Amino acid sequence: MRSGRAAGTHTGTSDPCWLGPATTAFLRGRQVSLLAEGPIADTLRLELATAVGPAGAVGGDPSCEPALVLARHDLLAGAVGVTGPLRRAADAAAGLGEEGFALVGDGSTAAVVATGERGLLHGYFHLLRSAATAGSHEVLPTLETVQEPALPVRMINQWDNTSAGDHLGSVERGYAGDSIFFSDGRIVQDRRRISDYARLLASVGINAVSINNVNVHPAAVRLLTDGLPDVADVARIFRGYGIATYLSVSFASPIVLGDLPTADPGDESVVAWWAGVAEGLYREIPDFGGFVVKADSEGRPGPFDYGRDHVDGANLIAGALRPFGGRVFWRCFVYDHRQDWRDRSTDRARAAYDHFAALDGRFADNVVLQVKCGPMDFQVREPVSPLALAMAETNTVVEFQITQEYTGQQIDLCCLLPQWHEILTFDVSGEQLPGDTLASALARRGRVTASSGVCAVSNVGDDANWTGHKLAQANLYGFGRVAWDPALSAREVLGEWTALTFPDATDLHETLIELQMGSWGTYEMYTAPLGVGWMVTPHTHYGPAVDGYEYSKWGTYHFADRDGLGVDRTVATGTGFAGQYPKAWAERYEHVETCPDELLLFFHHVPYSHLLHSGTTVIQHIYDTHVEGARRVVEMRDLWRSLEGRLDEASWTNVMERLERQVNSAREWRDQVTTYFFRKSGVPDRNGRVVH
Ligand code: GCU
Repeated sequence: MRSGRAAGTHTGTSDPCWLGPATTAFLRGRQVSLLAEGPIADTLRLELATAVGPAGAVGGDPSCEPALVLARHDLLAGAVGVTGPLRRAADAAAGLGEEGFALVGDGSTAAVVATGERGLLHGYFHLLRSAATAGSHEVLPTLETVQEPALPVRMINQWDNTSAGDHLGSVERGYAGDSIFFSDGRIVQDRRRISDYARLLASVGINAVSINNVNVHPAAVRLLTDGLPDVADVARIFRGYGIATYLSVSFASPIVLGDLPTADPGDESVVAWWAGVAEGLYREIPDFGGFVVKADSEGRPGPFDYGRDHVDGANLIAGALRPFGGRVFWRCFVYDHRQDWRDRSTDRARAAYDHFAALDGRFADNVVLQVKCGPMDFQVREPVSPLALAMAETNTVVEFQITQEYTGQQIDLCCLLPQWHEILTFDVSGEQLPGDTLASALARRGRVTASSGVCAVSNVGDDANWTGHKLAQANLYGFGRVAWDPALSAREVLGEWTALTFPDATDLHETLIELQMGSWGTYEMYTAPLGVGWMVTPHTHYGPAVDGYEYSKWGTYHFADRDGLGVDRTVATGTGFAGQYPKAWAERYEHVETCPDELLLFFHHVPYSHLLHSGTTVIQHIYDTHVEGARRVVEMRDLWRSLEGRLDEASWTNVMERLERQVNSAREWRDQVTTYFFRKSGVPDRNGRVVH
């Protein structure tokens, strides 16, 4: 059975997040005009009809003095009534790319003009955002802006398993309930949640989504065959919001589906098999995005199984997709996950660069390498991945993790926007050359092939509020916004999210923004110190276990002994990882004197008595930050308690309950980490607080 409902407008089955009814109040009862056609125009028509309500009207004629006109540039040629804001928007929109838009509002009317329907959709949501941040829900905003996305690829990866019986439940590393896409081995038949999700993603400019886990379990392989009609219907929903649909596939699909004895890229029958699969897919879904592949990674099959390399593997699948315009996102999360902890020469941080950097320039132009933002795995603090800085001739997307696997699992408040801002504005050469940030490097490459940008692992599930922790919605919202414009500051983005999400609590906006702004730093304080990472409970990755991974196979060690801690990744005496960076950074990271404090233990093994740039010793820093971090969580909890009755009850109760848990967790982190290092080092806390 297919859902008969067209894409468009919130269904009311779940929390509307940042798109509640108040955000369109300024359009209620108004006349609006839409000049566009196609599936996205159909979505917009529904959006507008809901916004204006029964007392308003959605027409096509811009000459009847509508309050809002949304028009495709070419359809305006010869139209009458192209004056005022519409004229100005039309002039400004000339020559924009397919996703760009011009938006002009004079306070009583507004116009969005774009080259393509996707631009109109982006412009419409920008109008809602602008109205909310202008502080009035009833009045059309006054503004004039021309926008185009900085990065062509702005993608969301779902880590949703097709059936709940799979590894780790139905969303891998999901902390907000079960999948909104799958249940009992197939795509859900009630597609309303998917449609609402598409709307949320479109509203922040996301243009691609992969709907199933990168760890493709056996049942999920069947999405390519029996599941295809359902995938096609999901793609139809996303199409209405300008979002292309992708699937994660197993490199061993030819074998798993039982058709061939091998998945060897050098085998002609394998090449033909992938070509056949692509043909079948594009017959059903002509604008299908392509595939995401996790190969030779954490036990997943890949080209190494056949003595081939990643170029062979990625180009095999890219070749099948090329005739149809599809792309393969090939993940670079390749490392030895069966390491012997006694082996001090293998460094997991080096792995992605060691595997891929030398392959630059050999990938097909519809291959996109997907590189995690740090060299390890989404820790609260890591240096920027040197591989992300190295691939000048290869399409690259930098991968972020919105789902808070290592950053509090949507129990603890941890707004990741400041972290992402630091990464995206990272100075690539380290020489402070103008326009040389990671985001601008991705944008430059994107202008060549339109296949570079960012992607992120989603944090949503079927919890009523989508993200488990209400305030974690800001991370989802914010990812889309910084993908569109990486220059936006965390504070600006939080300002938008807060204004849209809590329109009736204007007096609290500053408080809410401050609370979120400080939360990443606070989380960092009470968890693993100075960039060392990984002191988490194995497998679940929530809560402290200082030695949890110390003698394991995962390559994630802190090497604490009675004298000191940290990982020597220098070229001179360590693993050489520091040498993977551009020269200025390599030199800075190589020496304790120049290595930034927050990454000291990522690059160096130092004595507890080592003096930080901040003026305290490493051991005292550990005591101070853990005590202070846990104190700040209590302060956040108390602040939130004082807001009772001033926010909607569901949000207040949800966050209150999570903050109580965070207080306990931070206390546990503080006490375990400080006690551990007191026992190891024998150095007492200068302030006499560490007593366990
Ligand atoms: C982390 C995470 C896994 C995930 C992997 C990946 O290791 O814990 O659940 O599969 O990243 O990115 O592939």
